[in-house]
Amino acid sequence: MKNLFSLFCKGLVFTLLLGLIGCEGDIGPQGPTGPAGPIGQTGLSGQDGQNGAENCVDCHGNNQLITAKMFQWENSIHYLGGHYDRNEADCAACHTSQGFLDRIASGAMEASADVEDPLPQNCYTCHQIHQTWTGADWALTAQDPVTLWVGGETVDLGAGNQCINCHQPRLRTPAVPTPGVDEMLEITSNFWGPHHGAKGALFTGKGAYEVGSGYVNSSHTTSVENSCITCHMAEAIEGRGAGGHTFRVETEEGDLNLNGCSSIVCHSAGAVPALVESTQAEIQLLLDELNADLKAIGILAPLFGSDRAVKGTWTSVQVGALWNYLYVEEDKSKGVHNAQYAKTLLENSIAALD
Ligand code: HEC
Ligand code: HEC
Ligand code: HEC
Ligand code: HEC
Ligand code: HEC
Repeated sequence: MKNLFSLFCKGLVFTLLLGLIGCEGDIGPQGPTGPAGPIGQTGLSGQDGQNGAENCVDCHGNNQLITAKMFQWENSIHYLGGHYDRNEADCAACHTSQGFLDRIASGAMEASADVEDPLPQNCYTCHQIHQTWTGADWALTAQDPVTLWVGGETVDLGAGNQCINCHQPRLRTPAVPTPGVDEMLEITSNFWGPHHGAKGALFTGKGAYEVGSGYVNSSHTTSVENSCITCHMAEAIEGRGAGGHTFRVETEEGDLNLNGCSSIVCHSAGAVPALVESTQAEIQLLLDELNADLKAIGILAPLFGSDRAVKGTWTSVQVGALWNYLYVEEDKSKGVHNAQYAKTLLENSIAALD
């Protein structure tokens, strides 16, 4: 716009100058009228008033909105984690931005092909950037209720649905056993288990080997609106230490972001750190006990830098207890996501192995 305007001004000055030069001689008689010029091209029509550049400022205004979110995102594991290089079609479905959008569009569990020039989870992965070219494009790309791959149950965590499309367990062979059905099962991979994204499942109390009884979900599951978003994207603390688009609930120094907790009516924020500590200590003790039991059986062992499944043929109870161990361990919140459910699951697994 600015350039056009300055061109126009220059043109005006030029014409005036020509005019001045023209004024020096005598003025001759007017010539004959020339032929009519060709009909001009039809102008481009706007798209329902949505395509005008004026809407760009909804987002690209001068308020540093995008820059601020990007600055936080650059301190997230989505940006820093480095595993976006897992660009084979099955891994790319969660590990790359392009593969994720591809599989959300198709409804498949994999991207349709390996992803060239892979990108990590970024603005375009979660927001409908440049679809209508208005502020409405901040809408999420995957906000529908999610049918979890393991167990096939559908859950609805509001805006948290965006997260659990990826933060959910992967399908495995053998599948998670059914309690009460006793059979021998063969594990053929040391990487058998829920993979690293068990959160969405444990948070909702789905997809585990529910041996025994007494399962209930904690109030985080039943009453935290938008789930993941409320705690992991609460207003940022310590600059960009945690919260907002860092997706961290805790800073690297170990300070919890309590901004989300106080929105949950049950807690006074001051009580939360101690509560988290005692919950995590209790779950860690149970994890340690189950870890020792599984190692004694021989189905779990330190392999490739971490405790993993041991290949072989095992009873369905042993396989189920192994799943439960890896499921709570890979959840990484040590009970915070769904404390009562995790506790019952570990206690019942320990009892079932006895
Ligand atoms: C919903 C908010 C939103 C609206 C509206 C919007 N943009 Fe963007 N735009 C973004 C985001 C987010 C990025 C990514 C920023 C980044 O990666 O650096 C981006 C990136 C860009 C880029 C950098 C190149 C690219 O594609 O990544 C250009 C150019 C651009 N936008 C132009 C426009 C124009 C022109 C309009 C209006 C017709 C517009 N945008 C409207 C959010 C928006
Ligand atoms: C497209 C898939 C995808 C989506 C959507 C997604 N994540 Fe992630 N997330 C990942 C992957 C993959 C990693 C690990 C990144 C790496 O290591 O490269 C990760 C890492 C994380 C981490 C860091 C984990 C750690 O070990 O420190 C947190 C926290 C997290 N995500 C929270 C969220 C939240 C909250 C949402 C929803 C707003 C979300 N994620 C949406 C795939 C996704
Ligand atoms: C359902 C989504 C999903 C799929 C499919 C998936 N991953 Fe992941 N993966 C994740 C998430 C989420 C994380 C990060 C979890 C966290 O750190 O809390 C992750 C983490 C990882 C890590 C880092 C582990 C660590 O200890 O830091 C590796 C390596 C990895 N994935 C490899 C793969 C490979 C290889 C494939 C394909 C064979 C694959 N993933 C498929 C969701 C997925
Ligand atoms: C892993 C998913 C994810 C990624 C990556 C992500 N966002 Fe978001 N963003 C969200 C969620 C979830 C919300 C909150 C939406 C809600 O509460 O309904 C949000 C909210 C926002 C908002 C506020 C929107 C509004 O309606 O006011 C802006 C602005 C925004 N994000 C910008 C960005 C930019 C810029 C990037 C890239 C640097 C980005 N986001 C990357 C998930 C993501
Ligand atoms: C009630 C608050 C709360 C909710 C809701 C919540 N989280 Fe967490 N999350 C935590 C806390 C607290 C931790 C443990 C932090 C620690 O000790 O490192 C954690 C740990 C994690 C981790 C491990 C990496 C890290 O940052 O420590 C990931 C990944 C994660 N959560 C993802 C999710 C996802 C996905 C959801 C939605 C299904 C979710 N969380 C819901 C509070 C919450």
